[in-house]
Amino acid sequence: MATPRRIFDIENAETADSLGTTAYQLLTAIVVPRPIAWISTVSSDGVGNLAPHSFFTVSCANPAIVQFTSVGRKDTLRNIEQTGEFTISLAPEHLLDQVNDSSAPYDADVDEAQALAIAMEPSEKVAPPRVAASPASIECRLHSVVELGDSWLVLGTVCAITVHESALDGTHPRFDALQPLSRLGRNEWGRPPTVIAVDRPQAPPEGD
Ligand SMILES: Cc1cc2nc3c(=O)[nH]c(=O)nc-3n(C[C@H](O)[C@H](O)[C@H](O)COP(=O)(O)O)c2cc1C
Repeated sequence: MATPRRIFDIENAETADSLGTTAYQLLTAIVVPRPIAWISTVSSDGVGNLAPHSFFTVSCANPAIVQFTSVGRKDTLRNIEQTGEFTISLAPEHLLDQVNDSSAPYDADVDEAQALAIAMEPSEKVAPPRVAASPASIECRLHSVVELGDSWLVLGTVCAITVHESALDGTHPRFDALQPLSRLGRNEWGRPPTVIAVDRPQAPPEGD
């Protein structure tokens, strides 16, 4: 007997009520854990901005391109459209409160980093600064923005990556030093998980 499943008919759901939940609530609980891009931007008026985004991943290996999604039009998206630059700082576990606090709906003329006393430092190649205490940062120039319904997919070409020397094993960033937070569903966060190293098979496994 197959294990019973609840079916959420997303494409035929007129309202969230008919599902008992929204596709967004289901997806953010199932597509987990999501890494958190702590995104720093500067407006065309020179106001800094810092906000976490967990709809975030690598989009292209070569050229190196990363992406995040703005659900709705937010300061981060507007600033990137204005200036074409952003910096992603990795969100480490010890900065959870600051990461979360920077997601509050501050007015566009308020710099979250200043308001929350989060120390920033200059980036290497782009104007938006990075979070000084974050062990790794990714500097990006805007590749493109794709409008998708109520969300905007932002693709950024990576122009520099920095890693704290203390977080490197040779040239390899050490997971145990990065200690990245992740986002789960609702108000849930993931602590850094246990790491297991497993080599990929060089050939299909032999059948029995
Ligand atoms: C852990 C976490 C992850 C988030 N991920 C996203 C996301 O992927 N996309 C988004 O639009 N908002 C996301 N948010 C909400 C934004 O951080 C929030 O709307 C913020 O106020 C946006 O700031 P801004 O207007 O300064 O850009 C997230 C919030 C938290 C706490």
